[in-house]
Amino acid sequence: MARIIASDGTETTDFERIQGRLARLGIALNAWPAPGGARARALLEKKALSDAEKEELLGFVQNRFEELQRTKGYTTRDLIVIHEDVPGLADMLAKFDKVHFHTDDEVRYIVAGRGFFGFVEPDGGQFLLEVSAGDYINVPANAEHWFEMRDSKRIKAVRYFIDTSGWAPVYTERQRAIA
Ligand SMILES: [Fe+2]
Repeated sequence: MARIIASDGTETTDFERIQGRLARLGIALNAWPAPGGARARALLEKKALSDAEKEELLGFVQNRFEELQRTKGYTTRDLIVIHEDVPGLADMLAKFDKVHFHTDDEVRYIVAGRGFFGFVEPDGGQFLLEVSAGDYINVPANAEHWFEMRDSKRIKAVRYFIDTSGWAPVYTERQRAIA
């Protein structure tokens, strides 16, 4: 369930208001409930998953991938599983917690856990978007943003790609206004 935290600390969880604010930046946010069957829930609650378990979990949301293949031309997807014991976690997170953009869309379907995107508005203002299970987000190419984990270091998200080569961060040197 998405939540916006403004730079003055005010918050909203009103989904339509959040969608509207994101739409002004070209960002799409959909509410896609995470799979709810007993086996899917068991996988979603595990801290770490084997490659076979990741494939099994991706199978529960295969319908979403097929729709995105048809409508948006995505060709590949994988499941990223982050938790507090991932080796090199701090270095991995440090690549994405500075303001950057990509030359391809950044598309994430959060199925468990949570994290925070930061976005930069046309007037230079910044805000945070908390994403958690059931949030599908498409951050378009060239949109300035960052991503960070806060108190919880756990998130499971499906990543969809048209072309993985376009997906390195390009840093803009803009300073974050939200600590
Ligand atoms: Fe990014």
